[in-house]
Amino acid sequence: MPDQQTDDETSAVADTGDKPAVVGGPAASDGIRMQEPTIADGPDLWRLARDSGLDINSPYVYTLWSRDFAATSVIARDSEHNPRGFVTGFVRPAYPDTYFLWQVGVDPGFRGRRLARRMLDHIGDRIAALGLTHLEATVTPDNAASRALFESFARSRECTAVWSPLFGREHFPADDSEGHEPEDLVRIGPLGRPDTDSSTSADI
Ligand SMILES: CC(C)(COP(=O)(O)OP(=O)(O)OC[C@H]1O[C@@H](n2cnc3c(N)ncnc32)[C@H](O)[C@@H]1OP(=O)(O)O)[C@@H](O)C(=O)NCCC(=O)NCCS
Repeated sequence: MPDQQTDDETSAVADTGDKPAVVGGPAASDGIRMQEPTIADGPDLWRLARDSGLDINSPYVYTLWSRDFAATSVIARDSEHNPRGFVTGFVRPAYPDTYFLWQVGVDPGFRGRRLARRMLDHIGDRIAALGLTHLEATVTPDNAASRALFESFARSRECTAVWSPLFGREHFPADDSEGHEPEDLVRIGPLGRPDTDSSTSADI
């Protein structure tokens, strides 16, 4: 992959409505910048989720998420400020050492550029700094890209990805005409620093 040196070390401060939050970060050499979402990013998160082929949730969810879970979420924008990828997640209330990654999506035209890995590296650094030790997510059995992503992240942190069934078809509405695939849980930890021959926090 190309050398990902930062070209801008500036950060910005935005008012999310109830508290100021640092939303800016250094841009990578391809212009990608990782940011904590603000409520103004809600519509773009929703569009990214829709265009990524993820489950469609209400627009309200993404705007609410951007207000209350910004510190554990990411929106990635290119040099022209176009949204290219996102991660939403939260710290599990009953397990405060564990981050649950709810959704990760990358603009279909931007895939294969290690953007998802860079976003996970960014989130991994953030949650490690908060003292969290594990990352969890669920993935449908046929989602090879997502499985490879989490395995790649686990390898880079020198820890294992443990897979187990979590939600079966019976845990989703039977009267949903489209149904819902089962979801396997992946639990990764204890978290270490990302490796150096792949994406690192310096990329972002
Ligand atoms: C999954 C997804 C986020 C990956 O985004 P991406 O930016 O293209 O992924 P990256 O370039 O960072 O690749 C990360 C790793 O996954 C692997 N990978 C990516 N796409 C893959 C594919 N289609 N098949 C197999 N492996 C794949 C890469 O080879 C890399 O692994 P490596 O480090 O061992 O080489 C993207 O395909 C997507 O948005 N999919 C739809 C939404 C989704 O399914 N999200 C996950 C469920 S919440």
